[in-house]
Amino acid sequence: MFELQIVGTEYSDQLVKLWVDTFKQAYKDVHSPEDIAAYCAANFTAESASDELSSPQTVCCIASIENDPRGFYLVKHHGCPIPVDADASELKQIYVLASEYGNGLGRSLYKHAIESIRAAGCGCVWLSVADINYRAQAFYKKLGFDQLGPGPMLEVGSERLTSSIMAYRF
Ligand SMILES: CC(C)(COP(=O)(O)OP(=O)(O)OC[C@H]1O[C@@H](n2cnc3c(N)ncnc32)[C@H](O)[C@@H]1OP(=O)(O)O)[C@@H](O)C(=O)NCCC(=O)NCCS
Repeated sequence: MFELQIVGTEYSDQLVKLWVDTFKQAYKDVHSPEDIAAYCAANFTAESASDELSSPQTVCCIASIENDPRGFYLVKHHGCPIPVDADASELKQIYVLASEYGNGLGRSLYKHAIESIRAAGCGCVWLSVADINYRAQAFYKKLGFDQLGPGPMLEVGSERLTSSIMAYRF
């Protein structure tokens, strides 16, 4: 029922809208409206979308129903900050609209992301996830990810969050 499509710079506007909508929905009970607004203004711009979508290292896939976007992933083909014994790609973002939580879209996007990582010749996927993002951590554990160690500090407006690096070998 979802149509998954790898997209380029012509989808910058759609990506910005998905970035903002999914981020606000995911973190509305976690961060203050001011911190969310500051993060969105700093990170989810037309320029940053265009930069991501034009990078040869990045794969962006948008999932839609009848051309109405419902979720996306961004994969970046680059190494893991904690060494792993395989060529690796980062699952930079995987987000679905709250109206689709639990409908299987996250798993569909994930399977598609793994196919594109395999096609790039990599045998490991890694990501960093905020330590307070229990929903996402539960999702990744279910998919077979292991926690490797501490990740970068994440800043959302005035908040500073610890994160962890998780990885899955296939
Ligand atoms: C994490 C996210 C992508 C999962 O997407 P989803 O469409 O809700 O997940 P699915 O319906 O495809 O579920 C896939 C599997 O994970 C499990 N799962 C999903 N959310 C879960 C949770 N909170 N706890 C435990 N398991 C969970 C499901 O039971 C399912 O398992 P099954 O196929 O064996 O039944 C989605 O919740 C999301 O967009 N969250 C907000 C953004 C976010 O935090 N992204 C990650 C940032 S690092």
